[in-house]
Amino acid sequence: MKIIITGGAGFIGTHVVKLFVKKYPNYSIYNLDALTYAGNLENLKDIETYPNYHFIKADITDEQHINSLFQEIQPNAVIHLAAESHVDRSIMNPNQFVITNVLGTIHLLNASRKLNDFQVFYHISTDEVYGSLGETGYFTEKTPYDPRSPYSASKASSDHFVRSYYHTYHLPIKISNCSNNYGPYQFPEKLIPLCINNILNEKPLPIYGKGENVRDWLFVEDHSRAIDLIFHKGKIGETYNIGGNSEKKNIEVVQTLCKIMNKKMNKPEGYYEKLITFVKDRAGHDLRYAIDFTKLKTELNWTPSVSFEEGIEKTIDWYLNNSDWLKSVTSGNYQKYYEEQYIKR
Ligand code: NAD
Ligand code: DAU
Repeated sequence: MKIIITGGAGFIGTHVVKLFVKKYPNYSIYNLDALTYAGNLENLKDIETYPNYHFIKADITDEQHINSLFQEIQPNAVIHLAAESHVDRSIMNPNQFVITNVLGTIHLLNASRKLNDFQVFYHISTDEVYGSLGETGYFTEKTPYDPRSPYSASKASSDHFVRSYYHTYHLPIKISNCSNNYGPYQFPEKLIPLCINNILNEKPLPIYGKGENVRDWLFVEDHSRAIDLIFHKGKIGETYNIGGNSEKKNIEVVQTLCKIMNKKMNKPEGYYEKLITFVKDRAGHDLRYAIDFTKLKTELNWTPSVSFEEGIEKTIDWYLNNSDWLKSVTSGNYQKYYEEQYIKR
C-alpha cells in the first residue's frame, strides 16, 4: 500500500504521519507538503530515517507537479489534510483559502482519478462546514451545510467536490468532519497554544468578544486514531463526524490554562488570570460547535480516550518541555530545517 498524506508537516498531519509510519511498516508513506508557515519538518525528526517514510516538497495548487508525482508514485490511497486552516487568516485573505482548499483539492482528485489501483481518497474536513449552533443541538452527518467564514466556506466547497467525484466519476472517497483539535505541535496562532505561549512570555491573553463562544475540544491523538480507523474500516462514499464530547466556553478554556500554569510555574492563585484581555470580536464569530459522533461510535466503536482535563495537562507539559520548538516557530527559524536537512544532503 502506497499512501500519499498531504499536509503531513502540519499540526494534525504530523500525528497522522507518525502513527501510520510507526504502526504500518509495510505501507510506504509519502508526506506531500508545501511547507507553508504552518508546515514544520522538525516535527517529524524522529521518523525521517524510517525506510517506509518519504517526504516530498510539493504544492497541491501546482497541477502539473501533482499529476506527475501521482503518475510516478502510483499511490493506492490519499489522506488529504493539506489546507489553509486558520479562520482569522481567512478573514484577512480569503483568496488564498479558495486557491489551496478548493483548487488544491480538485487537483488531487483529478490526479487520483487517473490511477489504476486506487482504493481511497480520504478527505479530512471540519465541523465548521455545518455553521453555528444556538445553545442546544448537535451537528450530525445529515446537518445541512451552512459555512459562515471564508475558511469554512472553502472547506465546505472542497467537501462538495470530493462527494461530487464519488457520484460522478465513482472515485472511492471518504470524508470526516472533526471538531477543534489541541495538543503537541499546534502552531501558536490557535487559541490554546497562543495562550500557552503568551502565558510563558507574560503577554496579554486575547479573548474575542465576551469569551462565551463554545467549541468541542478533541485531543489530536484521538483524532489520528479516528482517521486510522475510518481509513481502514469506514465505508466508501460515507461521511463520519468526529468530536471530543468536551464542550467549553473559550473563557473557561483560558481560565483552565491559567490555573494549571499558576501551579506549574509556582505562581500565586490568580496570577496569570490577570493577563486575560477581552478584545474586539472575530467577524462573523460562530457561537457554538457541538458534534454528535454516534455514527462513528456505533459503526466503528470509536470514542475519545483522553478527557479534556488529561489532554490539556499533556499539552501544557509538552509545550513546557519543548520550549525550543516554540521559540523556533515563533522566530521563523524552523523554516530553515528543510534546506539544511534535505537540500544539502
Ligand atoms: P495546519 O495549518 O497545522 O497544517 C496544514 C499543513 O498543510 C501544513 O503542513 C502546510 O504546510 C500544508 N499546506 C498548506 N498549503 C499547502 C499547499 N498548497 N500544498 C501542500 N501543502 C500545503 O492544519 P491542521 O490544523 O493540522 O489541519 C489539518 C487539516 O485538518 C485541515 O484540512 C483542516 O481543515 C482540518 N481540520 C483541522 C482541525 C483543527 O482543529 N486544527 C479540526 C478539524 C479539521
Ligand atoms: O472546529 C474545527 C476548527 O477548529 C478547525 O477546522 C480549524 O482549522 C481550527 O483552526 C479551529 O477553528 P477555530 O476558529 O474554532 O479555532 P481557534 O483556535 O482559532 O479559536 C478557537 C476559539 O477561540 C474561537 O471561538 C475563537 C477564539 N479565539 C481565538 C484566538 C486565536 C480567541 O478568543 N482569541 C484568540 O486569540
